[in-house]
Amino acid sequence: MCGITGYIGENKTTDILIDGLKRLEYRGYDSCGIAAVDAKGSLYLRRVSGRVDALDKLVAEDPAKGARAGVGHTRWATHGAPSEDNAHPHTDCTGKLVVVHNGIIENYLDLKEKLLAAGHKFKSETDTEVIAHVIEEKLKALNVQAAAVRSEMTEPVFFEAFRRAVNDLKGSFALSAVWAPCPGMVLTARMHSPLVIGLGKGENFIASDVSAFLKHTKRVVFLNDGEMAAVRKDGVDYYDFKGKKTAKDSVTIQWDSTMAEKGGYKHFMLKEIHEQAEAVENTLRGRLLPLGGDVLKAEMGLTSDDIKGFASVQFIACGTAHHAGLVGRALFENFGIPSYADVASEFTDRAKLMRKGTLVAAISQSGETADTLFAVREAKAAGAKVIAITNTVGSTLTREADYVLYTHCGPEIGVASTKAFLGQLAAIYLLAGHFAAARGILKASDARRYAEDLLKIPRLIEETLAQEKDIAKVAQHFASSEHFLFISRHVNYPIALEGALKIKEISYVHAEGYAAGEMKHGPIAIIYKGMPLLAVAPSGRTLELMAGNVEEAKARGADVVAIVDEDSRKRVKAGRYITLPKTDELFTPMLSVIPLQIFAYYVALAKKCDIDKPRNLAKSVTVR
Ligand code: F6R
Repeated sequence: MCGITGYIGENKTTDILIDGLKRLEYRGYDSCGIAAVDAKGSLYLRRVSGRVDALDKLVAEDPAKGARAGVGHTRWATHGAPSEDNAHPHTDCTGKLVVVHNGIIENYLDLKEKLLAAGHKFKSETDTEVIAHVIEEKLKALNVQAAAVRSEMTEPVFFEAFRRAVNDLKGSFALSAVWAPCPGMVLTARMHSPLVIGLGKGENFIASDVSAFLKHTKRVVFLNDGEMAAVRKDGVDYYDFKGKKTAKDSVTIQWDSTMAEKGGYKHFMLKEIHEQAEAVENTLRGRLLPLGGDVLKAEMGLTSDDIKGFASVQFIACGTAHHAGLVGRALFENFGIPSYADVASEFTDRAKLMRKGTLVAAISQSGETADTLFAVREAKAAGAKVIAITNTVGSTLTREADYVLYTHCGPEIGVASTKAFLGQLAAIYLLAGHFAAARGILKASDARRYAEDLLKIPRLIEETLAQEKDIAKVAQHFASSEHFLFISRHVNYPIALEGALKIKEISYVHAEGYAAGEMKHGPIAIIYKGMPLLAVAPSGRTLELMAGNVEEAKARGADVVAIVDEDSRKRVKAGRYITLPKTDELFTPMLSVIPLQIFAYYVALAKKCDIDKPRNLAKSVTVR
């Protein structure tokens, strides 16, 4: 959570920092701030409780003059309520040293106690402020009087104080600091929180992720845990926490900054819903044929022999990505391959049971979700191999996994995940197809049909999206409901969970997703007259049971919307229908989730909710 930016160069520092923060706001948006220094060492600091737009306004009223280096932060509160005092950047007692931080300093109370005893005064309740004072102590220990330090000495002194401070911190941090007497250098360090440097010409950038500076440069260097960097306008030096210089390679990011803009849609979420056919197509491209062959070998070193060697597949993920994992479980089990799916935060004991023959599939859009990373480390320690299914190049997950299967969805900015989910499903269907074909579970002709069906999905997604207006009308009809129920079975049971999650997160109303077979075991009692119930009921093996579940719900007053295809529509008796194009039942989750996403979007729109930045949430959950 939280987004940090940093800049050094000849261009308008505060504009660049604020623009970067706007692009990182999905990481947290309860308060924000920037600090910048000019060549003479005067510090400019502005913070607000609230969104980056308010900060932008404040800065425009009284702009910084001549600032050439600075840092910025948009916050998702962990320690201390959202307020201006708790907003970053935080300063030391001298007011000359500023720090921005993403993560949690676990030993901050110990450090704070010692600092208080040494006479430091604190102005916030945050763990981050402690870092500024620790650096101040280190500067003192180096016998530095900020006002008196000779200019040629500021850089080595600041570097050493920062390095020593970083070594005192326990927990997770992506950290950047500026010291007013040293305007030619911004320092930054990483431990368990994402951090990337953007390399420009005569200017350099720091951010939590590349979208902050993509419009300025696509050449980037990802820092690893335990690395720090001294960023100057003409170059960047990299070090470990002992101060030993390290060599780092840059990579070029293929995303375009316009890919991260709204492109005429009212919200990123709606734009991203409409990008799902492309997300699936891009994720499948060049990786499917021949199913069971060695097509994944060149890209990620996963051979068909490796695939044959795994006894089971264990999915781990959080939130929407976990729902993709649940679809994966149903799919692999459908092929007779033992498979499990757990939320990463509840995996700790099971992780210890992982064995060599298990392939752990960690699914994460961001590749930075703390619980997922923690689970991966535990599973690896127990001997399992890990495949990352992620959308984010260079993310921590990609560096810790044995194999990486990228979803090629482009940047997902809306906090509610949509196209990333479709990309995850596409990657899982791809993987399941290779597993089943490599093991001879899918014979040649069945494998061909499976691949053909999968390749048709992007077109069927477009057909489903074409019903947006009709789905919007259904959503408007139910927009004032305070409770929603979603039910389905088998591969679509996770889609019921996902439909409920989408409503909860962007409309703030109560919604439940259930395995339809569970209804009679309790939940049916909550149905009241007029309660909206969305039932995913495609043709296939679950249809008869689903038709029965719909009858039972209707008999108790539910107002049913059935998500059906042309054939199952004849069997399910509902008040309203959304009709999907026909595909094999196994592939229906990639279509059935789309009306539920659109439904949630229009319910939230009718309620005038802040769809792309729902309250209390952040896009990337980098704390446990
Ligand atoms: C819901 C949503 C979250 C994420 C979850 C995992 O719309 O976006 O539930 O799916 O926080 O995030 P990643 O995939 O980045 O690990």
